[in-house]
Amino acid sequence: MNLDYSKFISATPDFPIKGVLFRDISPLLANGAAFKSAVGELADFAREKETELIVGPEARGFIVGAAVANEMGIGFQPARREGKLPGEVVKESYDLEYGQNTLEMEVSAIKPGQRVLLVDDLLATSGTINDTKKLVEKLGGVIVGAAFIVELKDLNGRDSIADLEIKSLITY
Ligand code: HPA
Repeated sequence: MNLDYSKFISATPDFPIKGVLFRDISPLLANGAAFKSAVGELADFAREKETELIVGPEARGFIVGAAVANEMGIGFQPARREGKLPGEVVKESYDLEYGQNTLEMEVSAIKPGQRVLLVDDLLATSGTINDTKKLVEKLGGVIVGAAFIVELKDLNGRDSIADLEIKSLITY
């Protein structure tokens, strides 16, 4: 039976700016059983999709994505904020619910044709995951889906990645 993850997701009003109800997975990460269960469910999805590599965006995508990759015994590659990666990179910029951001991946991160699952903690407006998707596509990866612990339905993040199969464990 799957866990009810809702009691492990905090909700903070007016963070980081007024009017945003900020949902955070930190309580879930702090609970070993909840973290393990969530990672296990996402790994089951990854296995169904015959995933060969997990790609996760900075910063919480690193935590969840690397855990899923390790659970499966496959590799993980990060989509990092601008200026952090030493090698030759490709880059994409996106607008956040609040602010703007640029993500980069190293050209050597993905072998063309490799089956890649995108993993992040939370799907909001989809700016982050959409740029991660574009980076993986630029590098010739085959995206098998996108997986999240939390999905914020009202922000319609699914719409801009409607061509992907999406797995989320809890929706608000
Ligand atoms: N939580 C985390 N990240 C976010 C949120 C949120 O509620 N909204 C937009 N990005």
